[in-house]
Amino acid sequence: MIAIPQRLPLIALDDAQAVARHVARLVLADQLADRPRPLGLATGATMVPVYEAVVAETRQLSAIQLERLHEHWRSYNLDEYLGLAPQHPGSFASFMHARLAGPLQLDPRRVRLPDGMAPDPLAEARRYCAEIRAAGGIGLQLLGLGLNGHVGFNEPPCDASESCRPVELSPETRRHNASAFGGDPAAVPQRAITLGLAEILASRRILLIVTGAAKAEVLQRLLRQDPSPELPASWLQRHPAVQLIVDRSALGAAAAPRSGA
Ligand code: GLP
Repeated sequence: MIAIPQRLPLIALDDAQAVARHVARLVLADQLADRPRPLGLATGATMVPVYEAVVAETRQLSAIQLERLHEHWRSYNLDEYLGLAPQHPGSFASFMHARLAGPLQLDPRRVRLPDGMAPDPLAEARRYCAEIRAAGGIGLQLLGLGLNGHVGFNEPPCDASESCRPVELSPETRRHNASAFGGDPAAVPQRAITLGLAEILASRRILLIVTGAAKAEVLQRLLRQDPSPELPASWLQRHPAVQLIVDRSALGAAAAPRSGA
């Protein structure tokens, strides 16, 4: 493990698998603590090995710990596409069921997402946000990083004060997410409901997970830039307990001089 001082506290691990194991252990430790707050969860390719690692690590738990995990679990996803039913294979609800809730045999009512089919998306965004507040707010929030610096579906430009709301997705984000829609960006919904930076920054602790060479450029921007609407993830610099967990590929050239250290 190498620690490099940056604008955001950063841990660099060898590869995406090592990152996933590290995050999985933090998630399980959080959820097995006394009276855990709800988890904030993300979707996307970055989270696939993370949830696989959570499932694998869960196999090491005792029966009592497993029971405790099931009893306490409450998670809130960051976002959901508008216009997709939970059963749609491209929905984030499907992703969560396939990757986490199903394998862990979690009560589906404890794995919460915005309702992508809500007739009034703004009302649904407000309801979702109020539900999170009523549940005590997010404790540990997992975040991935979009190629354009988005977190959740907070596309640039985006202020730190933005709250949970319906949003338009950028063509770049729809292209990136097309793999869940047969590779066709036009099949990716144009709109979504997302938690805003306001709710994300209100969580107690944040893990921003960045893996793979494709993220090297946006990661460098994040490590060098002051908070700005043009890079929504940069607002995380204002959070008192944020940790950036990256692999060497995402760190790109910046990792090389340190890699032998
Ligand atoms: C998506 C999601 C985010 C995710 C990010 C990165 O569009 N809304 O929650 O973290 O983009 O995705 P990926 O991990 O596939 O690169």
